[in-house]
Amino acid sequence: MISQMLLDARRYEEDAGNRIAEMDRPGFHLSPRTGWMNDPNGFCIYKGRYHLFYQYYPYASRWDSMHWGHAVSDDLIHWEYLPAALAPDRYYDQDGAFSGSAITLPDGRMMLMYTGVRLDKSVNPHREIQKQCVAVGDGIDFEKYEGNPVLDENALPAGGSPNDFRDPKMILLKDGTYACVVADRSQDTSGQILLYTSRDGFSWKYEKVLARCNNRFGKMWECPDFFPLDGKQVLLVSPQDMLPAGLEYHGGNNTLCLIGSYDDSTFDFREEHDQSIDYGIDFYAPQTVLSPDGRRIMIGWMQNWDACAIRGPEAPWAGQMSLPRELWIQDGRLYQRPIREFDALRRNKVEYKNVEVGKEKLYLDGISGRMVDMEIRVRPKNPEVSYSKFVVRFAEEGETCTSIRFRPHESTLKIDRKFSGSRRAILHQRRCLVENAADDLKIRVILDRYSCEIFIDGGRKVMSSALYTDQNAKKISFRADGDVVMDVVKYEIVV
Ligand code: FRU
Repeated sequence: MISQMLLDARRYEEDAGNRIAEMDRPGFHLSPRTGWMNDPNGFCIYKGRYHLFYQYYPYASRWDSMHWGHAVSDDLIHWEYLPAALAPDRYYDQDGAFSGSAITLPDGRMMLMYTGVRLDKSVNPHREIQKQCVAVGDGIDFEKYEGNPVLDENALPAGGSPNDFRDPKMILLKDGTYACVVADRSQDTSGQILLYTSRDGFSWKYEKVLARCNNRFGKMWECPDFFPLDGKQVLLVSPQDMLPAGLEYHGGNNTLCLIGSYDDSTFDFREEHDQSIDYGIDFYAPQTVLSPDGRRIMIGWMQNWDACAIRGPEAPWAGQMSLPRELWIQDGRLYQRPIREFDALRRNKVEYKNVEVGKEKLYLDGISGRMVDMEIRVRPKNPEVSYSKFVVRFAEEGETCTSIRFRPHESTLKIDRKFSGSRRAILHQRRCLVENAADDLKIRVILDRYSCEIFIDGGRKVMSSALYTDQNAKKISFRADGDVVMDVVKYEIVV
């Protein structure tokens, strides 16, 4: 039943995973049990617990033939590893079990739907044939369906590509049947999201093209998710090969949120608004789950394909998930905040009010550390006189630091990890627009051992970045060009 390949992976990961010390992992972000992690997969609630699977190569800290790793949690903060769930052990998925999703069937079994990849070397050694497959199980062991694949090239609309046909996200509909959104590439060489329906999860019917990239936002779109939120409908995708557009979209691999209206009787989605999901360096392929109390919770891979070289081959693990975030719509935009379960980890509050910050670097008693939640508010000292720059440095020691810099006259916030200890000439900076903050800048900075996530202006924008600075670099400092006054509330995070 369980293939030798999966048994081998399970034996290996247990051993290798146990050799990684707790202190060498993120404190409250999920990292792979061992080896490589990319996209979150199969994010769901099963028998009262949150399950999260992930794209996984256990044997090295680089991308290779994809397995599915697996973890469970009661609060989305404390994770427990379960044995790897899928290995690429069948003809149709021999070159990888790519991203997908999970649902619970009416008989209580969990169903996974994923993309089975096989290289068709007859034409080109890198040409992939991608098909959707399912596997059913008890939440630990899964049996691949004998009727696999359940969606292949025959289920594509005219001009659809069987080589870029991946990342099925299943959705339970009100009447107990299912829909599924799958990413594909159309004749115009850019992405399209296809919609399928099914009564039982095994047999699927093509319905329509739900959304088209039309070469507007990058090329291929990966990892779609589609859900109602606050009276609107949201489509999340991760575009590849994007061209930058102002400070809204950076180039390369990016994330895109389309907000619109949806008629579920005709499957008609009308876009009304577009934005980036995360404006930092590392965030990709997010997936959401609906919590029992009705919150739409999103988690993403806190890494960027264009910056993977930040982790060297000697690292025992590579890739981590973002903090799970609650989503809502405000002023027509997607807003995010860390899930409220996270607030329970805040300890040892340190608070300063009306601290004057100027040219001299300022260190404050009790404000340091690498597992930290810190809320900062900044305004000009004299409301009539604006300042030109405000800078927070963290994970700092000597020359080493990562910084957040706000320039009110440009309305830009920048994250810069150039001096974070990276020896790679890769992407180290990103900026985003933060308007109307010259008189009152509000940021919440969440630091874990290997990352920072900045929630700006009550969650209107978020910037996430991985950093691999030595853990001894713990200082936090503040400085400004011009005179500002700052309030800061800082908590230690204790898991
Ligand atoms: C996105 C992605 C998916 C694919 C997976 C392969 O990061 O390229 O489209 O399923 O990674 O690991």
